[in-house]
Amino acid sequence: MTAPPRILLDCDPGIDDAFALLCALKFTGLDAITTVSGNVSINNTTRNARFIMELAGADVPVHRGASAPLEVDGVAADEIHGASGLGKLKTPESARPESNVGAVEAIIDYCAGGDATIVATGPLTNIALAVQQDPTLPERIGHLFWMGGGTEGGNVTERAEFNAWVDPHALDITLRSGIPLTMFGLNLTHQVLMGQPEIDALRSAGTATASMLADFLEFYRENGARHVAGQPMHDPCALLGLTHPDLFETNKSHIVTSTIDDEDRGRTFVNEPQTNVEHYVAVRANAPQVIDLIVQAAIDPTPAA
Ligand code: RIB
Ligand code: CA
Repeated sequence: MTAPPRILLDCDPGIDDAFALLCALKFTGLDAITTVSGNVSINNTTRNARFIMELAGADVPVHRGASAPLEVDGVAADEIHGASGLGKLKTPESARPESNVGAVEAIIDYCAGGDATIVATGPLTNIALAVQQDPTLPERIGHLFWMGGGTEGGNVTERAEFNAWVDPHALDITLRSGIPLTMFGLNLTHQVLMGQPEIDALRSAGTATASMLADFLEFYRENGARHVAGQPMHDPCALLGLTHPDLFETNKSHIVTSTIDDEDRGRTFVNEPQTNVEHYVAVRANAPQVIDLIVQAAIDPTPAA
């Protein structure tokens, strides 16, 4: 059996980020976590990442990142993810301390050996700051798997997805940097809807992790955008796109965005499929199998390999 891919996960937990963190523990070699403000404040996203690691019994360093976007004012999505970012939970302080190395330094250090794999499930502020600090960094990133953007409209404005809209300047820097990237946008993640069947499966698993994730999923379903069949489980799609590529279809297309503060802010413009670019757009998911993997990881995040 081949060794799982080693990754750094940059995230803004957030309920779907929490599911992605557990998928990372199960299906990758999760070397490091960097946190960014997005769904909730940097204090909350960092506390939540540490808590999820403790809940899963994992010892992965958590590196605190940007507390605000590069240029625009920060916003939050606490109406969807809860005041703490994890539903109704008042996230306890984990006994595991956060690293004294900040996110940007951790990202640059992580990429030192070249061909690094990064999964990002929040605004790309940390990635952009790292590129600004070390313009040669893109040469050492093998691939960035990013949940954000989309090809068919937005969820924070009519045209833009949250992670892209929150920090459009960071997205623009990342897209122009030469970093090979696959975008798992709303057009993809809205195919992966989790609801009552998955809540029931988590409840009946009888583990503390699964029970808490069921609580999070119930909150997320009650407060997120209304989908008949359930709630889009965005962030795990980017992670599973790395670990289970056979469950996804992607097109090779150039992606650009807009930083002008109008109705196109953060919109991701995807060109016709091309061969000479290093951007990929995920367009199709095998949703039943993706959902099954997410539920497996939520019930038991111990490494599969
Ligand atoms: O638009 C959905 C994305 O924004 C997800 O990553 C969610 O966690 C929020 O960060
Ligand atoms: Ca997220």
